[in-house]
Amino acid sequence: EAGDQTAQNESPAKPLGTCVGDSKSCPEGGRLHAKIEGRYVSVLRIDGKLFCIDSICFHAGGPLGIGDIEDVNGHKCLVCPWHFYKIDIQTGDKYYQGLEFKDGKMLGGEWKSNGVRQRVHPVVEESGKIYVTLSTQPDAEAAATAAGLLGCGGPTAA
Ligand code: FES
Repeated sequence: EAGDQTAQNESPAKPLGTCVGDSKSCPEGGRLHAKIEGRYVSVLRIDGKLFCIDSICFHAGGPLGIGDIEDVNGHKCLVCPWHFYKIDIQTGDKYYQGLEFKDGKMLGGEWKSNGVRQRVHPVVEESGKIYVTLSTQPDAEAAATAAGLLGCGGPTAA
């Protein structure tokens, strides 16, 4: 039957995900923020590549999606405006700087990862539009809770 033939010859169309906006609304260095199925996500274009990460910081709900971008050992990170956690935009890893004690001085040592703490999502661009598929990666927040990294309770007044 003709229908069966088509099914055999063509690979099934891959769903693109949820459209979050036009490509031109997220130029190089730009961002897009969207809500998909109740989840806030931020799309960033850095060095020509798109990334998508949960907008709300796993730590205490800070606005991670609007944080500054910093390079941590070659990893592009969002820096949460509330407590300055550095989160890898590609993997969701949270980095911290180990300390070294030398000759009575405390020095900033190597950058290390606490593991994946923030959820990241696949993002694709097609025909001038950007699409996000909510991730099915293990629950990063649950991992953070287990590691005792949650529960700060929000920003403290200076
Ligand atoms: Fe983001 Fe605390 S809420 S670092």
